[in-house]
Amino acid sequence: MASRKVAVLVGSLRKQSYNRKMAKALIECAPSGLQLEIVEIGQLPLYNQDGDDDGSPASEWVAFRERMAGFQAVLFVTPEYNRSVPAVLKNALDVGSRPYGKSIWSGKPGAVVSLSPGAIGGFGANHHLRQSLVFLNVPTMQQPEAYIGGAAALFDESGKLANDGTRNFIQGFMNSFAAWVQANLPSA
Ligand code: FNR
Repeated sequence: MASRKVAVLVGSLRKQSYNRKMAKALIECAPSGLQLEIVEIGQLPLYNQDGDDDGSPASEWVAFRERMAGFQAVLFVTPEYNRSVPAVLKNALDVGSRPYGKSIWSGKPGAVVSLSPGAIGGFGANHHLRQSLVFLNVPTMQQPEAYIGGAAALFDESGKLANDGTRNFIQGFMNSFAAWVQANLPSA
């Protein structure tokens, strides 16, 4: 099976972010058929349609759109902010979705992992994100779902996953995602 390039978008800018640690663990656990890279989104100015309408889009938007065009799939790893998607991640979705008719999301298979120190594992963010992904035509893996709670206890001091149960779960998740990507690529 050919290797597929997967963009990993992390919905937290915090230096010690549990979600970024989880993104790195997901990358480590991925099967060889997936080539994953974190694509940074914190530098993107807030989306303002005037920039595209006036033909003067922010250079960071243009660079992000060009970079994302080189990926075949996308993996979202996100905390929950006030039971929804953190603004930085929603902004990246909006930036990538425009100009109208030139969305970089359409047709890219995707998956969502939400992670929180709380007990319900970012369920609200996970499903609000899925609502946007339906509109953006991102075929998003339904199963297995990944709402990971208790994040504060999952990593050791070096930021590595220190929990075998979670490692087994995310290995299975990434194997399923590899099969999902293969089955849902536009040319498949
Ligand atoms: C939170 N947090 C949070 N947690 C949760 O489970 N549900 C929620 O609705 C919220 N809401 C929320 C709003 C805002 C503005 C902040 C800053 C935080 C707590 C959040 O899960 C916690 O800070 C995580 O550590 C954030 O993820 P990272 O940065 O560790 O990846």
